[in-house]
Amino acid sequence: MLETLEGLGQEAGEALRAIQDKSELGAWRSAYLGRRGKITDAVKAVGTLPPDERPAYGRRANELKRALEAAYEARAGELEKQSAVSARAADQVDVSLPGRPPRPGRLHPATRTLREIYRIFAEMGFQVYRSRDVETDDFNFTWLNMPPHHPARDMWDTFYTTQPGVILRTHTSPGQIHAMRQYHPEPIRVILPGMCYRYEQITARSEIMFNQVEGLAVGEEITMADLKGTLVDFARRMFGQGRQVRFRASHFPFTEPSAEVDMDCILCNGEGCRVCKYTGWLEILGCGMVHPVVLAYGGYDPAIYSGFAFGMGPERIAMLKHGIEDIRHFWGNDLRFLKQFG
Ligand code: DAH
Repeated sequence: MLETLEGLGQEAGEALRAIQDKSELGAWRSAYLGRRGKITDAVKAVGTLPPDERPAYGRRANELKRALEAAYEARAGELEKQSAVSARAADQVDVSLPGRPPRPGRLHPATRTLREIYRIFAEMGFQVYRSRDVETDDFNFTWLNMPPHHPARDMWDTFYTTQPGVILRTHTSPGQIHAMRQYHPEPIRVILPGMCYRYEQITARSEIMFNQVEGLAVGEEITMADLKGTLVDFARRMFGQGRQVRFRASHFPFTEPSAEVDMDCILCNGEGCRVCKYTGWLEILGCGMVHPVVLAYGGYDPAIYSGFAFGMGPERIAMLKHGIEDIRHFWGNDLRFLKQFG
């Protein structure tokens, strides 16, 4: 009986030394020292022995049990220490490795285009005037010569809010009214950049949010020649001095006369290609002489004052400039696209 006990003690000791991982300790403990453990059973077995063998067996069994408990504690301590050491080693910084260079951020292509537009107009004496994204129906439509129920409003698919008369601006033109009401009767030369919103189907060509840059000049004796000179100069500073620019008659409710400005296609130089739909021309903006009704809503007497205005889409301009074929890239947050700029 004593021999079996010694054999069991040895087996338990070896099994304990073989354990390399903390997680196996629990299983060992219940196999040998648990309520149904082999050592526990061996201690209990003292009762089955003939009385004269009991004292020696009992003493040895208890001794073994205490020794194994102590060995268990020691092994647990060792493994704990080992795992802390290896965790620290794994965590160590290898100072001999080359550093990882921080990657500098860069400006979004829409921001870059906006800044280029600001710079060009700043050189021509235009200041930046900012106005709100959430507008009233009056600013966005009525005071731009589109009274309630006027069919021209259909040209702008609008996001309405739950508050009657409050909408997201569909264009930057309402900023014209804000600027005029703030400055009249002083002369004005401003550009009005900002985000616009339209309730549209999102496609490669149209987004529900996009930037616009509006321009407004008001004063005495401002003529269509000023408008043409400013915009031809802008197109050439933006796209290159040799560019051809043409003014095509158009219609906007807030200008009279109105025009759209085209430039010879920068991809095919006017030969005709897919981008210019084989016309040789690319449309870059809308413009016109500020309508007398709009001047009056802005606080200027149209008998004395006149002005010109224009509006362009910087994302569209960036698309033309960089050959970007899908407007959805701008707000897609795909680094593979964004990293190509700057
Ligand atoms: N607001 C127009 C639009 O969103 C663009 C525009 C055209 C603005 C002609 C103007 C302008 O100031 O004169 O489509």
